[in-house]
Amino acid sequence: MVEIRRLTAYEVRQYLGELAGVLLDCVGGGASVGFMASLSKAEGEAFFDKILEGVRRGDRVLLAAFIDAQLVGTVQIFLATPPNQPHRADVAKLLVLRSVRGQGVGARLMECAEEASRLAGKSLLVLDTVTGGPAERLYVRLGWNRAGVIPRYAMYPDGTWCDTTIFWKQL
Ligand SMILES: CC(C)(COP(=O)(O)OP(=O)(O)OC[C@H]1O[C@@H](n2cnc3c(N)ncnc32)[C@H](O)[C@@H]1OP(=O)(O)O)[C@@H](O)C(=O)NCCC(=O)NCCS
Repeated sequence: MVEIRRLTAYEVRQYLGELAGVLLDCVGGGASVGFMASLSKAEGEAFFDKILEGVRRGDRVLLAAFIDAQLVGTVQIFLATPPNQPHRADVAKLLVLRSVRGQGVGARLMECAEEASRLAGKSLLVLDTVTGGPAERLYVRLGWNRAGVIPRYAMYPDGTWCDTTIFWKQL
């Protein structure tokens, strides 16, 4: 049974270790999510610690997925878009522990991210992801539209290049 919750800033601090653990597991599995293979637990915790202020201000939403009270996945929504794009938000850092993949946790996190965005008054979501990866299939299945591909946009943790697909979805 998966439970998805929006974490308060206090809870983000409380779960820093678990959030960093999920990030490290994904990077360890070769996911291109902003970090190289050298990522340490301390750097992972620092990454989530940095977003605390945004969560406190309400600029950023962090959702966490729990199975049997263990934090197994997360996703973020950046609500603080420029004044001429008040209807838009960015979705980022969808991360699920390798040990629980393929059970619908990623899909549930995305459905809840869409619902939280709707509740925040957003009607257009944008995200980017590695071209040809498992996340791309998930987004297509959830009705996201491909805007296009940017070659060599980023690197995998081992330093090899990857292309990136930009997606959008009207809510
Ligand atoms: C992308 C990611 C979040 C997907 O998480 P997940 O929990 O495995 O996602 P889901 O289980 O919802 O869907 C994944 C697959 O499991 C299948 N699945 C979904 N529900 C299922 C269920 N109840 N039982 C069995 N399989 C299921 C889906 O069909 C899907 O198959 P597909 O790859 O052919 O599309 C995960 O692979 C991940 O964390 N990757 C590394 C980080 C990353 O790349 N993030 C994206 C950043 S943009």
